[in-house]
Amino acid sequence: MNKNAAAIILAAGKSKRMKSDTPKVIHPLCSRPVLNYVLDLVKGLKINRAIAVLGHKHELVEGLLGRGIKAVLQKKLLGTGDAVKQAGRLLKDFKGTVLILYGDAPLLKKETLKKLLKHHTENKLDATLLTAKLDDPAGYGRVLRDKYSSISGIVEDKDADEFQKSIKEINTGIACFNKERLFEALSRIKRDNRSQEYYLTDVIGILYKKGRLIESVNIADINEALGINSRKELAKANRIMQKRINEELMEKGVTIVDPDSAFISYGTKVGRDTVIYPFTVIERGVRIGRRCSIGPFIHLKESTALGDDVWAGNFLEVVRSKLASKTLAKHFGYIGDAKLGRMVNIGAGCVTANFDGAKKHTTIIGDSAFIGSDTVLIAPVKVGKGAKTGAGSVVTRKKNVPAGRTVAGVPARLLTPAKKR
Ligand code: UD1
Ligand code: CA
Repeated sequence: MNKNAAAIILAAGKSKRMKSDTPKVIHPLCSRPVLNYVLDLVKGLKINRAIAVLGHKHELVEGLLGRGIKAVLQKKLLGTGDAVKQAGRLLKDFKGTVLILYGDAPLLKKETLKKLLKHHTENKLDATLLTAKLDDPAGYGRVLRDKYSSISGIVEDKDADEFQKSIKEINTGIACFNKERLFEALSRIKRDNRSQEYYLTDVIGILYKKGRLIESVNIADINEALGINSRKELAKANRIMQKRINEELMEKGVTIVDPDSAFISYGTKVGRDTVIYPFTVIERGVRIGRRCSIGPFIHLKESTALGDDVWAGNFLEVVRSKLASKTLAKHFGYIGDAKLGRMVNIGAGCVTANFDGAKKHTTIIGDSAFIGSDTVLIAPVKVGKGAKTGAGSVVTRKKNVPAGRTVAGVPARLLTPAKKR
């Protein structure tokens, strides 16, 4: 569909303002690296080619790229203008539209990008900027316009005078260019600014002076423009992304009692008619079936799968575990590295002691088993189908509880003799 367009994703920056040892594009946003959201956008566009410009700790970032996205190394971080120039190496044989994306702007929506590309190509423009009007434009490059209201340049916040700082129209950084015009102008940019960097944004002033056609597409939802430069902006972006994730789940038929206190990772699958109560934290790689009751105050961690009609109640942590349909764990406890069958009842305060100090071990609990309150199951251990443990039992490792039998005590011993036929 967009075979005449190529994308350049800028992700070489040093994350100075994050004050982090990790590149900012790797920081998690709803448990997923910031850059991955931008990569998804590119993949959704079905374009001619995509190039990511990497620099700071590139070996860490490169692993995220996946197939179809080529990496170019920016050896010295001399600014966004220099970064785009580096990508030019992989565009020698390309003619058409170059789309610029910033690796630290993950909230942009696909429809917006499509609109930008459409406006650019249909009007045969040389440059089209995605701009936004912000009440608080501090930190962003400001869009300059001449007396005919045509775009005449961009001034960076650091270099802006008082009047320019009062301009509310900002450059999101996302833009389309005619490839030839872009690289022509890039060869003319200088480092005569406060950061002593080659600014990509200086290209706009150069194109204007040459009488090239520059227009803008304005985004209505200003949240899409947020660039993540600091921890504060990361938290802000996280809140916006969380809202999107929660709204999508609600649209699919999940009840979220208080969306402001439901922290659900990107990509979490939840079945319809499940109810998520307040203060629920769901990490990546969790699946929840239909009609479940989750929380309040629960932590579901990686590789957890809950079947249909499961009740996972308050003050519970579940990690790397499966709970099959109709299993109930209504009260506080810890379930780790466990496989629970159907209709299991886990009493209050039960713990799977999965870690022996060196290794993690598995607990297996059969269908319809009844685990009495305050039972500790020391893994590896199995509880058979329909078996019971008395309140306060400590089932020691490998002392498997046979199907249909009851154990109790510390250490747990068989109570009822096996019925003879
Ligand atoms: C940039 C824009 C600004 C815009 C804002 C929107 C420039 C000069 N300024 O400012 O007009 O309002 O984004 O969020 O472009 N990068 C490299 N190599 C470099 C420097 C940066 O790849 O040498 C990458 C960064 O990793 C980042 C992106 O380019 O993903 C933008 O760089 P950043 O330093 O965050 O620019 P801003 O100051 O936010
Ligand atoms: Ca930025």
